Amino acid sequence: MQTLRYYFKKAKEEKWAIGHFNFSTADQLKAIVGGASEMKAPVMVATSEGEADFVGYDQAVALVSSYQKEGCAVWLNADHHKSFESAKKAIDAGYDTVLIDSSRLNFDENILMTSQVVGYAREKNTELLVEGELGYLKGESQVQEAVEISPADYTQPEQAADFVSRTGADRLAVVFGNIHGVVTEQEEKLDIEHLKKIVSVVPETVLVLHGASGLSDKDVADAIAAGISNVHINTELRVAYHNALHSELDKEPSQTTPYKFLAPSQDAMKELVKKKLKLFGSVDKI
Ligand code: G3H
Ligand code: ZN
Repeated sequence: MQTLRYYFKKAKEEKWAIGHFNFSTADQLKAIVGGASEMKAPVMVATSEGEADFVGYDQAVALVSSYQKEGCAVWLNADHHKSFESAKKAIDAGYDTVLIDSSRLNFDENILMTSQVVGYAREKNTELLVEGELGYLKGESQVQEAVEISPADYTQPEQAADFVSRTGADRLAVVFGNIHGVVTEQEEKLDIEHLKKIVSVVPETVLVLHGASGLSDKDVADAIAAGISNVHINTELRVAYHNALHSELDKEPSQTTPYKFLAPSQDAMKELVKKKLKLFGSVDKI
């Protein structure tokens, strides 16, 4: 199996993006890996701190490595880990990659914490990739009415170059109009011209679009064409899983067998993953 680093290089050169999908149960993970395998697409699966606490760090690693042993091109990311300690926990457990999210700190403190995690990761495993985050990415991975966005929160291009060279991070999560979650009373809109300015100062760095739920397909495709190589989706998967479960329980209220009442949720997630992988251009890349 090729490495995640290999696929990022390929994605960057060929202008497509690797999908990144969160899970908090084994059946959700199976839906993501199943969808990606059918599409012959390399894929990242992820647990945030909350999702990892629910699944178990060691258990998430064991589940994903069971698919890797079968030959699936899947890698496990520790998504938005907010302290050195939690990133270390994921690295020690055997995650393939980690996002140290210290974007709430000031610029120098963000560089310090990200560098600390990069240093630790390099000591443990040279193949382990580290992502840093710069800019203020608002919102939660849920359905919200509105989230106020300001260009003042965007990733500043001049800081991006400095951040990458001082931390040695492999990937950079950037902010250019994106928010976490889906909004019902507002249109989500990316500032592609701003993204292009960031790309121009860090042309070699893998740039990550977080918060892709709720964006138009056109915005996502434009962002990939402009230089995004990794796209994160969580909320839309959660909603698909939840809605299918809700209607199944409404339809069959006496059904108590989990593998029966969860099957439609798993299918709904799998279909959505396949649709997103087509949009990201990552089909038939294995
Ligand atoms: O890191 C996770 C993603 O950025 C999820 O964003 O919930 O808007 O899809 P989303
Ligand atoms: Zn995110």
